[in-house]
Amino acid sequence: MVVAQRVLITGGNSGIGFEAARQLLQLGHHVVIACRDAGKAQKAVEALAPVAKASGVSVDSALMDLTSFASVRDGAAKLLARHPRLDVMVCNAGVMSGTRGFAAPQLTADGYETTLQVNHLSHFLLVHLLLPALLASPAARVVVVSSELHRKALAEAPAAAAGAGSTPGSTAAPAAPKGPDVGLATPEWLTRLRSPSAATAAGAAAVPAAESKRLSGMQLYCISKLYNLWFAFHLASLLPSNVTCNAVSPGWVPGTALGRGAPWLVRVLYQTLCPLIPFAVSVPEGARRVVSVCVGADEGAVRGRYFARGAQSDSSSESLDTAAAAELWKLSMQATGVEEYLPPQQQPQGLQQQQEQKEQEQQQ
Ligand SMILES: NC(=O)c1ccc[n+]([C@@H]2O[C@H](COP(=O)([O-])OP(=O)(O)OC[C@H]3O[C@@H](n4cnc5c(N)ncnc54)[C@H](OP(=O)(O)O)[C@@H]3O)[C@@H](O)[C@H]2O)c1
Repeated sequence: MVVAQRVLITGGNSGIGFEAARQLLQLGHHVVIACRDAGKAQKAVEALAPVAKASGVSVDSALMDLTSFASVRDGAAKLLARHPRLDVMVCNAGVMSGTRGFAAPQLTADGYETTLQVNHLSHFLLVHLLLPALLASPAARVVVVSSELHRKALAEAPAAAAGAGSTPGSTAAPAAPKGPDVGLATPEWLTRLRSPSAATAAGAAAVPAAESKRLSGMQLYCISKLYNLWFAFHLASLLPSNVTCNAVSPGWVPGTALGRGAPWLVRVLYQTLCPLIPFAVSVPEGARRVVSVCVGADEGAVRGRYFARGAQSDSSSESLDTAAAAELWKLSMQATGVEEYLPPQQQPQGLQQQQEQKEQEQQQ
């Protein structure tokens, strides 16, 4: 018998998120879709309601715009009031902008590059805000939707391989620099993705606009998907035993609206012709891969893993760079204004603390 879980999915009104919501309802789970647009949220809930009814479960929506930390905070507070317990949280919403390398970066009102904020920073903040509900579950899961394109993060920004995001011991000859020249998890890097005014307000060095103009939407997307893995793996190492965190790639799913930033003709061709390519994944299959990490029995038994093509898989070597993940974590806390990510009683003892405690015990 299925034990009904309460699942929150960001970006649940469209593409993989919408289809995952439908499948979860069919399987007998309650679903809350987090959306930025009230009209789209209502339309999606209306479309999902018959499925929920047939399974005897509920579907509703929560409003939040991931381009705004204030909106995320407001949406999370309302959600917690309605749902003090969540069993699964899916960080699914994402954007890939059509920005070309020569165009000015698209910044949010918080002063961050939009892809970085929607795909990573706002989910980082949202999971933190919803931890009380996840910790209230006897067995909760955080599922971060990444992409195989995380492998391209350094390839797209080759000179960054020399920085903190690189794999120690890598002997690969650096390609001609066409991207940023600092590590992807360094303050210098994140500062490059901020508006000069926001950086100055925070006391950081302002970035010359020309520096920020060098990244295309694809480069930013790949980097954000590597950030998803650094986030998921580091979070998994911090969470108490009743909450797991894993990452998943749905595969290449050209039938969704992800490429909406591209010129219309490219978009239409992409969405209609690409799904016919043999290795393209259908929206239902992409969603099924996400759903299995949300509620599958085997997937619930592991933490800090990456799933691709429907099975546990190796992620890129740089995604396993724990120092870079920890550095990104620190920077993300600063960016989102989070002082303590986990409630104090849930914080795992750091290795150093454990060592100190051992030494003290030996001295006594
Ligand atoms: N499609 C692929 O080939 C593929 C491959 C690997 C990974 N993924 C990942 O799968 C996830 C879902 O993408 P998809 O392909 O299903 O694309 P999609 O159809 O465009 O869905 C993206 C969802 O994110 C929401 N979203 C975008 N910006 C937001 C914001 N500022 N605030 C709140 N919600 C926002 C969208 O809402 P609106 O409708 O209001 O814009 C939409 O519901 C993404 O994380 C993506 O990186 C996709």
